Amino acid sequence: MSEETLEITLTVNGELLTKTVHVRQHLVDFLRMDLGLTGTHLGCEHGICGACSVRVNGSVVRGCLMLAVQADGAAVVTIEGLTETGEIADLQKNFVDRNALQCGFCTPGMLVTLAELLRNKNSCNRMEIREYISGNLCRCTGYHAIIDAVEITIKDRIGEH
Ligand code: FES
Ligand code: FES
Repeated sequence: MSEETLEITLTVNGELLTKTVHVRQHLVDFLRMDLGLTGTHLGCEHGICGACSVRVNGSVVRGCLMLAVQADGAAVVTIEGLTETGEIADLQKNFVDRNALQCGFCTPGMLVTLAELLRNKNSCNRMEIREYISGNLCRCTGYHAIIDAVEITIKDRIGEH
């Protein structure tokens, strides 16, 4: 059975692209399979785990719940883009320093969500940080080290250290 396709134009990590996609292909499948941007992970594919989190038009979305065709005209930023711009270089360093990742499966989605937190808030207590990442599941760390890394990043950014 042949599946219908559509042409979409969007920016991904600042690059303007025009691609033909299958109408039922979700955004992360497009990013991973068509663009080779495998930093965004797929876990549940049902909107539960947050592994697929990407930034679309400035907001974090679950890429497994969005069709690629719905991203026509959008600005998409993945973990690769966030890494390239250095926007969260300090947070990424603190993740490593605090051992805030083990298997690393949740980490890209977690960092995309935390990048949003760091953009929106310049102060946050541990409970608020935990709440912010409540949609990003981690089976390894118990979250404490992740929250440590975020807390240190926020304090460094406001010059509290
Ligand atoms: S893969 Fe999208 S929420 Fe789990
Ligand atoms: S580090 Fe393994 S799931 Fe989070």
